[in-house]
Amino acid sequence: MKILIYPHEILRQEARPVDKLDGEFQVLIDQMLEMMYKARGVGLAANQIGELRQLVVIDVTPSEEGPNPIVLINPRITEWEGEEAGEEGCLSVPNYVAPVKRAFRLHVTGYDRNEREIGFDAEGLLARCIQHELDHLKGICFVDRLNPVRKALFRKKWPKIRPKEEG
Ligand code: NI
Repeated sequence: MKILIYPHEILRQEARPVDKLDGEFQVLIDQMLEMMYKARGVGLAANQIGELRQLVVIDVTPSEEGPNPIVLINPRITEWEGEEAGEEGCLSVPNYVAPVKRAFRLHVTGYDRNEREIGFDAEGLLARCIQHELDHLKGICFVDRLNPVRKALFRKKWPKIRPKEEG
């Protein structure tokens, strides 16, 4: 299992809702958390490891205070507020960061790994991360949200900086 690199076609596909949280699914969650921490990321969507399921893992806690993982299954953002531009990167687009405009504050609902319904408000980095990861579930990568100038620069630069796929 490895993290797919942009523009892998699975990153362009929509994830389907999860209906059964069986043992296999729990293993998948643990694997995703492990991969996220190992790669020093703050979020990972199932699409990024080739699983088209509505599952994301997030941890924006500074490492000296964490870990504090958030597992979101079948997540939905139900409220947005404000706007803020901030630097974003992605484990599927390594070695590249660029500013993206996102809602500053939001409310998200979904299920945790114990099938409990959850909902909470988030702002700042956590809100940004939730929007980024939920985009992945819809087949959207943050580079799709760059302004036209940045997007053109990215298209030029990416073939030179992208990691070579193994195999
Ligand atoms: Ni990403």
